[in-house]
Amino acid sequence: MKKLHHKPIVGCMRWGIWGENFTTSQYEQKINQCLEIGLDIFDHADIYGHYTTEAEFGNALKGNTNLRSQIKIITKCGINMLTPNRPQHAIKSYDTSAAHITKSVEQSLQNFHTDYIDTLLIHRPDILIDVEEVGATITALKKAGKIKSFGVSNFTTSQVALLQKYIPVEHHQVEISVTNLNAFENGILDQCQLEKIEAQSWSPMGNGIFTENTNQHSRILAQADSLSKGYECSVNQILLAFIYAHPSQIVPVIGTTKFERISEAKKAMEIELKREDFYKLWTASTGKEVA
Ligand SMILES: NC(=O)c1ccc[n+]([C@@H]2O[C@H](COP(=O)([O-])OP(=O)(O)OC[C@H]3O[C@@H](n4cnc5c(N)ncnc54)[C@H](OP(=O)(O)O)[C@@H]3O)[C@@H](O)[C@H]2O)c1
Repeated sequence: MKKLHHKPIVGCMRWGIWGENFTTSQYEQKINQCLEIGLDIFDHADIYGHYTTEAEFGNALKGNTNLRSQIKIITKCGINMLTPNRPQHAIKSYDTSAAHITKSVEQSLQNFHTDYIDTLLIHRPDILIDVEEVGATITALKKAGKIKSFGVSNFTTSQVALLQKYIPVEHHQVEISVTNLNAFENGILDQCQLEKIEAQSWSPMGNGIFTENTNQHSRILAQADSLSKGYECSVNQILLAFIYAHPSQIVPVIGTTKFERISEAKKAMEIELKREDFYKLWTASTGKEVA
């Protein structure tokens, strides 16, 4: 049965000092350009730009409730990063305690000049996670209207199942692409379908595919290039179509900072990759025929 593909989420990890170092007016311009083509969900994390990108994005929203009301903000918490911006951190570590989650959400609300976060994700599975405590904390934050929905990122299926006993997990953001096939086989996408969890893919184009010249990358890019001619589209669109081909209705979180590539990515929603073409890319990725 044919299902409509979801529009991409716009990843903001590279908008600040980890990438383009946009000015406030460039943030505002980029947000508006995305809105003009119907992309209204923006993905953040407290740590992006060593804890600076949320606030920079927020400066573009300051005093502009109209702009805020037109967009949806995803942000994440749970990683304590080593950086001069957080001198109190002695080691990179994870923290999903009630105190940390609550403090992080309050900081994000302040950074974005808003009184609600649309989606909060726990960024990485904290080995010491107390699922009952997380459940109670998220329930309280939802009740207070500070977060609208909740999910996780980079969890295993058993970690999701455990957390689900205490709080509904509505989104799971994991690395999924033609260079990282794990989620297709490790049960994460099965669990998303079973439990009606939205699957989001980070690095959807393939981590390192444009920067590292490995044999795997060369095989994939050659295959994607060949397919792009038949589908009359770009290589980037073929890479996204690979993800869209899966029936779990994966939502790509695209990381490009270039509007032309954002716009092109949105048009990938219209491509229906044929079954054999999916497997041509799969085979190019693994370097061997399926069993
Ligand atoms: N949950 C997590 O743990 C996690 C981890 C990592 C990322 N994320 C989220 O996922 C988002 C996307 O991640 P990502 O940036 O790794 O994803 P991506 O969309 O797979 O990659 C984007 C990168 O590829 C470059 N690129 C795209 N097309 C290209 C081309 N044709 N030629 C050369 N370079 C090209 C872009 O450069 P240009 O900007 O120049 O186009 C950008 O540096 C992030 O912004 C973040 O929001 C989440």
